[in-house]
Amino acid sequence: MHGLGDVGFFDRMAPLYDRVMPPANGEALAAGLAHATRPIDRLLDVGGGSGRAAAALTGPEITVVDASLGMLDRARGVRGLSAVAGDAGRLPFRDASVDAVMIVDAFHHLPDQEAALREAARVLAPGGALVIREFDPDHPLGRALVAAENAIRMTSQFKTPRNLAAALDDAGFDPRIVDRGFGYTVAGVRRED
Ligand SMILES: C[S@@+](CC[C@H](N)C(=O)[O-])C[C@H]1O[C@@H](n2cnc3c(N)ncnc32)[C@H](O)[C@@H]1O
Repeated sequence: MHGLGDVGFFDRMAPLYDRVMPPANGEALAAGLAHATRPIDRLLDVGGGSGRAAAALTGPEITVVDASLGMLDRARGVRGLSAVAGDAGRLPFRDASVDAVMIVDAFHHLPDQEAALREAARVLAPGGALVIREFDPDHPLGRALVAAENAIRMTSQFKTPRNLAAALDDAGFDPRIVDRGFGYTVAGVRRED
């Protein structure tokens, strides 16, 4: 049984979050989403928090899903986004009901990463894209981030681009590494069952 990991931290941080965070990398997200082989009309932003990443995209109808009510209040109240409370490991959406899922700077906070990938695969229609933006623990800045999050007792588990791509493959996606660096992007296209 997994708890909700670092959600309490984000509840407390919600009023400050957008003041301390830089804007999300919309170009990298769009490049990842471009791998979908179906039109992207409906997108879930899982672990989407205050909607910072959703705000960097135009086009699809976006629903932010997060386990922190404080962060969701910001997504709704400040950004006017559609926002739903939920755990990434048990998404409150029907099978094959969306065209894309993104998880931005949140995957390492998820206590059950395998369940989150399984759920993304379940809710995505074939040809839909899962796009994950993460931090590389082997990059020099990544090593510093791992140390900092350990120091404040976060439960973060970081994956390298290669290991994340392998995890997507195991979960039913055709993966590709879209870009590399301290922050990197991996996209997976949902295979037919
Ligand atoms: C660093 S924030 C990233 C928020 C947003 N994606 C962004 O790019 O600004 C991480 C988010 O993951 C959420 N989170 C952590 N564990 C979660 C879980 N099990 N299910 C859903 N959301 C979760 C936190 O509440 C938090 O809002």
